[in-house]
Amino acid sequence: MVQYSNELKEEIRAANDIVDVISQYVTLKRSGRNYFGICPFHREKSPSFSVSPDRQYFHCFGCHKGGDVFTFVSEIEKLSFKETVEFLAERGHVTLPAEQDEGFNEKQYLKDRMYKINLETTLFFHERLYQPLAKIAQNYVKERKLDNATLKAFKIGYSGEYNELYKHLKSKGFKDNEILATGLVNKNDRGEFIDRFRKRLMFPIMTVNGKVVAFGGRRLDNNEKTAKYINSNENLIYSKKQHLFALNLAKQTNDKQIILVEGYMDAISLHQRGIKNVVASLGTALTEEQGRLLRKYSEQVLMSYDSDGAGQEAIMRGLEILGAQGCDARVIQMEGAKDPDEYIIKYGSERFKLLAKNAISLVEFKIKMIRSKYDLENATDKVRFLKEITKVLSKVENNIEREIYIGKVAEQYKISKEAIYVEVNKQTYKNQASKDNIKSRPIHKEEINQEEISESIIKRENMVLYLLINHYEESVIDITSNIVKEDFKLEVNQKIFEAITEAKEKSKDRILQVLSNIEDNELQSQISEIMLSDYEITSVQKCIEDIIINYTKERLNNRKLAIIKELENPSLPREDASMLEVELNNIIIELAKM
Ligand code: GTP
Ligand code: MN
Repeated sequence: MVQYSNELKEEIRAANDIVDVISQYVTLKRSGRNYFGICPFHREKSPSFSVSPDRQYFHCFGCHKGGDVFTFVSEIEKLSFKETVEFLAERGHVTLPAEQDEGFNEKQYLKDRMYKINLETTLFFHERLYQPLAKIAQNYVKERKLDNATLKAFKIGYSGEYNELYKHLKSKGFKDNEILATGLVNKNDRGEFIDRFRKRLMFPIMTVNGKVVAFGGRRLDNNEKTAKYINSNENLIYSKKQHLFALNLAKQTNDKQIILVEGYMDAISLHQRGIKNVVASLGTALTEEQGRLLRKYSEQVLMSYDSDGAGQEAIMRGLEILGAQGCDARVIQMEGAKDPDEYIIKYGSERFKLLAKNAISLVEFKIKMIRSKYDLENATDKVRFLKEITKVLSKVENNIEREIYIGKVAEQYKISKEAIYVEVNKQTYKNQASKDNIKSRPIHKEEINQEEISESIIKRENMVLYLLINHYEESVIDITSNIVKEDFKLEVNQKIFEAITEAKEKSKDRILQVLSNIEDNELQSQISEIMLSDYEITSVQKCIEDIIINYTKERLNNRKLAIIKELENPSLPREDASMLEVELNNIIIELAKM
């Protein structure tokens, strides 16, 4: 029986972020500081499974399962504790101590050696860049305007000739099989060992924690016959779809926003000019795994891809991947340069920041793409344009968001709002009809057959939410310290209240964002109804006081009735009865005071 130390368990825990791990089993959506999803441990339709990245805990409010990353993996994979430790150690690249009775964990050892080789190689290439022999690389670096701090920050290097790296690694005691496993050196037909990267500018690719897992090498000339970039092949420690170049540096900015670019040089160039919340996807298609990483370290992703056609296609897919994962994804629109590197060199970082500030959403991006196909001066084109964009608009599920877009489109393209509404409604009807056909079952209707709830009660609780949404800063403390979720009679209102109060970062903008991220249509229509109702509020403070008194009275009254009912019970023990009578008296006095 092996006993793992607490330090080891801590190390494994640190290497396996709970949101990351659970995301492999459950689709999680961020809401405030936490993530929510459908519980994998019991059947449910609406998500009550929540994961806290801060506390590294999960909890299901439906089935009440909860715990840390070890609990989760052991439950979902049906593993013993020991197996869970092994599973997570492997996943997080943590080396477990050798077990006497089971033999050495060879694979783990090899991985460890590969990380060491990559680190050694990074230093070797980096130092080599400064040597006299690397003149050609030094000139190239100058030409690309990379300064020394940048070379250091990214550990940029220069790979030498023939088998320099191989010889160096051998001199450091690495074995052939270990070196070959990294792909940094290949063995040819004649049995010679030859470096994969030769005479290239080298960019180490690191994990979010700064461990080097692979390299990219750029050719230094314009010889189109050789590949502009060569990258490490996938291997035991490198799966290209799971990494983002420069994420280790971007993470350190703790910015809630990340700028996503395509190329090494774009990320490096922006970083050098003060925009450090930047990562590169290295290749055109953003993968789901990369999307998850981005969401984990940011709330908003601004895509800044090359301005060519391929870049635009890639943006569309990227936005959809990010959107599906609950990221606020936007597009930076760039004119006058082919990529961010060229742009920032030409126009400077302030201009680039301005572009970032004006980044547009997926819907706006789609509309813009459609716009570019038509001549709006031409009447028939304008009608076609309207038809196409309403298809896009009708798919925006969030009512508030859709309103905003319709307003923008109407203004920007000089089309009446009414005309857009008519088309959007037609389209929504069509979308609904085809959905129903596919599912061939009646539209889901929430049964609100909870006991008759009077209109005045609904009005009151809507008012509470109205205050929270529209006068958040002034009302939140008083309301949340006096009113709890269970005070709401309508289930939708309970959910909205929960969404608002669970948004940990408290600001009105944040609340609006949280609310607009809710996907449930019924909730959305309730939210927009509340937001858009016009209560005449002269004093927010007075209004809150009245509501709180109202709720307190109701609570006391309910308790009063319950006590009276209990007292009617003939078998109630004497002491209990007298305690209840005291309570009843107090309630009556309090009610009278109000
Ligand atoms: P520069 O041309 O040096 O400015 O590089 P860049 O970073 O702007 O690259 P570009 O926009 O042309 O391409 C984006 C990314 O795609 C690069 O950073 C590489 O990761 C990858 N890429 C580009 N060309 C090649 C290639 O020939 N082979 C491979 N494997 N990847 C490439
Ligand atoms: Mn470029």
